[in-house]
Amino acid sequence: MRNIVAGNWKSNKSISEAREWMLEMGKAMVNMPQDVKVMIAPPAPYLSELAGGKRNGILIASQNVSSFSEGAYTGEFTAEMLVSCGVDFALVGHSERRADFGETDEMVAKKVRRCLDSNLGVVLCCGENLFSRDEGNQESVIKAQLMSALEGVGLEEMTGVVVAYEPIWAIGTGRTASAQQAAEMHFYIRSFLSERFSGDVAAETSILYGGSCKPSNAKELFSSPDVDGGLIGGASLESSVFQKIIEFDSSL
Ligand code: 13P
Repeated sequence: MRNIVAGNWKSNKSISEAREWMLEMGKAMVNMPQDVKVMIAPPAPYLSELAGGKRNGILIASQNVSSFSEGAYTGEFTAEMLVSCGVDFALVGHSERRADFGETDEMVAKKVRRCLDSNLGVVLCCGENLFSRDEGNQESVIKAQLMSALEGVGLEEMTGVVVAYEPIWAIGTGRTASAQQAAEMHFYIRSFLSERFSGDVAAETSILYGGSCKPSNAKELFSSPDVDGGLIGGASLESSVFQKIIEFDSSL
């Protein structure tokens, strides 16, 4: 499953806007390239309805998941619950959750474990901040994040993991990584996966780019052999714009 374009709505849209988007995107799916998997991560209250409704091949992801299994954890929802609602993936370790909700590497690793134990796919997010980039430490930051998040994950379990490289300085800033910066980091991540797991795992794992990706830069960003698609925030909110990214059509 190397080619994936995933949308992350974050905390946006009403339920009627979400339904409308699914309807529009569903109609457009027949015209989308058949070798690209389309995924959307709506806000949690809409997951059950969207995952249980007419999907037209659209994969549904949660933006979050509990690091615990069921029990007295008010406000949390477990990987098992998501699976029971028909959800396919959970985003884990997004930089906004790390920065704004105190998610530590340890919690991220627990979430990965919970998902894999429940057969819920993982979109594992990693990314360096501007300070680390300016210091030239981006590779060591990513290595530390991935080492920790994937600790104890077995070779076969990696079929359930997608990696998303999202440099924090490019998220929601309009300042995207250059195609070369993305290519270098994706190459680094694939090499890391090869060393940590195997050449086969590295070759088969999808590595998505996220951070101010839009129709005008998607084609260039996705042109690197190690960039297998994108995790799209703002530009996934309008289905017509999102479709252009999936089609690598820069006409918007
Ligand atoms: P933007 O595309 O809005 O920069 O967001 C990227 C992102 O965080 C996706 O998870």
